Amino acid sequence: MTTSVRGDQLARLLGRWHALPGRRRSPDYAALAAAVRGLLSDGRLALGVRLPAERELAEALGVSRTTVSAAYRNLRETGHLTSRRGAGSWTTLPHGHRVATSGLWTPDDDLDMIDLGVAASAAPVELVPAARAAADELPRYLGSAGYHPTGLPELRAAVAEAYSARGVPTSAEQILVTSGTQQALDLVLRLSVPVGAPVLVETPTYPNALAALAARRARISTHGIDIEAGWDGEMLLGALRQTRPRMTYVIPEFHNPTGHLMPASLRERLVATAHATGTELIVDESFVDLPLDGEPMPPPVAVFDRHSRVTSIGGMSKAYWGGLRIGWVRASAPVVQRLAAIRVGVDMASPVLEQLVAVQLLRLSAEIVAARRAQLRFRRDALIAELRDRLPEWRFVTPTGGVTLWAELDGPISSALSRAAEDVGVRLAPGPRFGLDGTLERFLRLPFTLPADDLVEAVRRIASVRHDLDHATGPSWRTPAVIA
Ligand SMILES: Cc1ncc(COP(=O)(O)O)c(C=O)c1O
Repeated sequence: MTTSVRGDQLARLLGRWHALPGRRRSPDYAALAAAVRGLLSDGRLALGVRLPAERELAEALGVSRTTVSAAYRNLRETGHLTSRRGAGSWTTLPHGHRVATSGLWTPDDDLDMIDLGVAASAAPVELVPAARAAADELPRYLGSAGYHPTGLPELRAAVAEAYSARGVPTSAEQILVTSGTQQALDLVLRLSVPVGAPVLVETPTYPNALAALAARRARISTHGIDIEAGWDGEMLLGALRQTRPRMTYVIPEFHNPTGHLMPASLRERLVATAHATGTELIVDESFVDLPLDGEPMPPPVAVFDRHSRVTSIGGMSKAYWGGLRIGWVRASAPVVQRLAAIRVGVDMASPVLEQLVAVQLLRLSAEIVAARRAQLRFRRDALIAELRDRLPEWRFVTPTGGVTLWAELDGPISSALSRAAEDVGVRLAPGPRFGLDGTLERFLRLPFTLPADDLVEAVRRIASVRHDLDHATGPSWRTPAVIA
């Protein structure tokens, strides 16, 4: 199904397109086309979206229709737009590009790119031995069809045991194994959020959660997370009371992207308020295994749940490996059955072999997670040292866990900087990707999941293009690398 964007919506997304850094003498139509490409390349405008009619966009932007016509023509020439008489114009992927896991458009031949768009690590060394051991276990399952819509019993039991060990007594029947945390979120939304229902999310937040909510056509309102202080408890609970959302999505452990850890007291009040306002809480625990500085962890949000208001989701992508595609939902046993019924309409079940690999890895969780934490601590510290050295005017709080650092830049330059960085071989996910309305231009997420040398090199390159942005002469609104 093609979705469309209205003129006023696109105008809002485009923001100050005519006055962005680096633009000097390029004509309006070229700047407009470049700004639309920018939205496409950083994922704020999706593929297959119908753009407004030329006259409508011209009105919304306060420019002539000729300017919009020329911009659309330019976008068609670069492969970003396809038009058909009578049917309109919709966004397309130019030849030679693909959509990356981050949702960003990337050239096919970019092996040398340092990719800071993805906040996930390479596999641990234990993965291949675990896969071999899993293959040895496989014959036990080969005599049946292999479809287990709720997950393999032994994996469900292992995940339930880990919850119980964290202080939330859980039985295997309360666990649904999914294809990553992303599918867990999608299934829970399908069950709990009718089309158009009000939901509350943090801003900034995880972009693919916003994408899942957009697919439900949820009516989204936001709670702002401060770069230094994190959640403002009064504001968050106040927002719940005022908007009485059907559902609230939070990432309380080492929040992506800010890295904040929600204190125990707010967890307890959040659950109580959600109960009072009739709101379901979806708690994304993607980073719960990754405290980096030995701090004591607050209890899981579900500990405070006495009225079945909390659905927890999590998975193995961050502490183990994203390529496994193993995630889960923790809910009541009847809800798990309802989710499984929805799930069979999507992908039937998770692969048996991968689930067996997951069981093997969870048996080694103590070693694997300890090594991952040590690796991330080292990489985080290397990133921070280089940032302090090369970009001392950027402001951030050292994250005490997780995999991301949220930096406040020295100006509203995140998208321009990301486009410039792409030209020197660094892929960034600019701040506005993590919000709804393009307002996070002063911020940039920097994951520390790559090797320290790559992070150091990336910061050097970013610092050099940051300098160039201020000193650009002539028409330097460069075409983003993604469109070649
Ligand atoms: C907060 C959050 N939720 C969900 C996901 C998706 O994880 P998975 O790979 O398990 O689907 C991510 C991955 O970056 C994430 O950061």
